Amino acid sequence: MSGSGVAGSGSGVGVQGAVDGPSSRTAWRHPHLLDVDTLSRDELRTVLDLADTMADRRAADPPRPLAGRTVATLFAEPSTRTRVSFELAARALGGDPVSLDAESSSLAKGESLIDTVRTLEALGARMLVVRHARSGAPQLASEHFSGPVLNAGDGWHAHPSQALLDLYTLRQVLGAERLAGAKVCIVGDVLHSRVARSDIWALTCWGVDLWITGPAVFLRGFDAWARALPGDRKLTVTGDLVRGIEGAAAVMALRVQRERLEGAGAPSEAAYAARWGLTEERLARHAPDAIVMHPGPVNEGVELPPDVVAGPRSVITRQVANGVPVRMAAMALLAERVA
Ligand code: CP
Repeated sequence: MSGSGVAGSGSGVGVQGAVDGPSSRTAWRHPHLLDVDTLSRDELRTVLDLADTMADRRAADPPRPLAGRTVATLFAEPSTRTRVSFELAARALGGDPVSLDAESSSLAKGESLIDTVRTLEALGARMLVVRHARSGAPQLASEHFSGPVLNAGDGWHAHPSQALLDLYTLRQVLGAERLAGAKVCIVGDVLHSRVARSDIWALTCWGVDLWITGPAVFLRGFDAWARALPGDRKLTVTGDLVRGIEGAAAVMALRVQRERLEGAGAPSEAAYAARWGLTEERLARHAPDAIVMHPGPVNEGVELPPDVVAGPRSVITRQVANGVPVRMAAMALLAERVA
């Protein structure tokens, strides 16, 4: 299940120089952010702590490690949250974001991803953010671009900045002490979810007692993954929703990917909502203290009813807002590699 990961250089880039902020100098080994599967817990903490700094200083005194640098965002799949927050983050760090929409670019005329990446670099891009329907596309881009590449979601493979902001939101809302060892349950179409895969890496690395549940057809292969995780990581796979969410501190519903529901034994949308929808009644009975998360976009009335989306348990809007300081942190950590 592991993907290409975050390529490590081992050279240890200092955080302090990049952001002019944290008091301690922390090692950061990675030239790109392609996944979170090779991030250590200390590195996760570095990103989260730096995101706190970014959130505090964003309005008044932002660090500007990308001043004068062009940051290209190449989105070959739809996005609202990730794209806008990466662009806001680049601007907040002093960078000059340039956005490429695949449908109106020369990609639509048959230009290859590699040629597009080389073209963006020739035009002055020094950092590159890539979303693509093909797993591995950001890795490929990183092999043809001399600056840092950040994966904004590739196929079913990975969505590392989403996992970082999910972890950040959990720590912010539950508190660091409660989060260590807390039960968190991801519900739904795990099989097709790049968010779930990156969350599994990040949350189990952090020490969360992670559960995943959903229709059996969406859990295929995850038992083997759970068994293959290092012994100190906790991932439990269950086809029993009640067992999955019972006593959880947080539940995260995944988007039901409508295009995949009808095939291969998957339930209809209505059947999914009836059997797996996280209604307030279900939550109150089985996970009364749980906060509700969702990476978005939400199919209201399917994975979550509108009253839960907008209700007091929901931290979905907070997740979205946290996308900016978390992506600022990731970009700042990579900024020392920008020419
Ligand atoms: N969570 C997420 O990736 O949302 P967008 O598709 O809107 O970027």
